[in-house]
Amino acid sequence: MENEILISYAKKAMGNAYAPYSGFSVGAALLTTEGEIFTGCNVENASFGATICAERCAAMKAISEGYTSFEKVAIVSSSGDYTYPCGICRQFLAEFMEEGTIILCNEEGTIKEYTLEKLIPYAFNLLT
Ligand code: THU
Repeated sequence: MENEILISYAKKAMGNAYAPYSGFSVGAALLTTEGEIFTGCNVENASFGATICAERCAAMKAISEGYTSFEKVAIVSSSGDYTYPCGICRQFLAEFMEEGTIILCNEEGTIKEYTLEKLIPYAFNLLT
């Protein structure tokens, strides 16, 4: 799957962001190892701590449909700049991405690619 395609899914999902408090919309699209795509957006709440990031929204959708292994996650935001996943999302994705890549794209369409390992070395792990 081309990174550009995954990014286009993330951009579309960003349009559904519910972000009335921060005004910061985020979209994510993940590719499972089976080749399925799941998308997510950030969903904020008046009780701020209840907010769900776009990456975890996409991951939850995939996991709840039986897909627990991810190859790539593309992330875009309304800032127009590269938007790196927050610490909670890095840890959350590490559970389901043994060797995977995080793809970021700015509004010029320039892409940056990182291994998740690079973004969260020594992720907490209880399984191995
Ligand atoms: N946000 C995400 O969706 N993903 C991230 O990795 C960083 C932050 C959202 C949460 C909140 O709705 C808004 O961005 C501002 O923090």
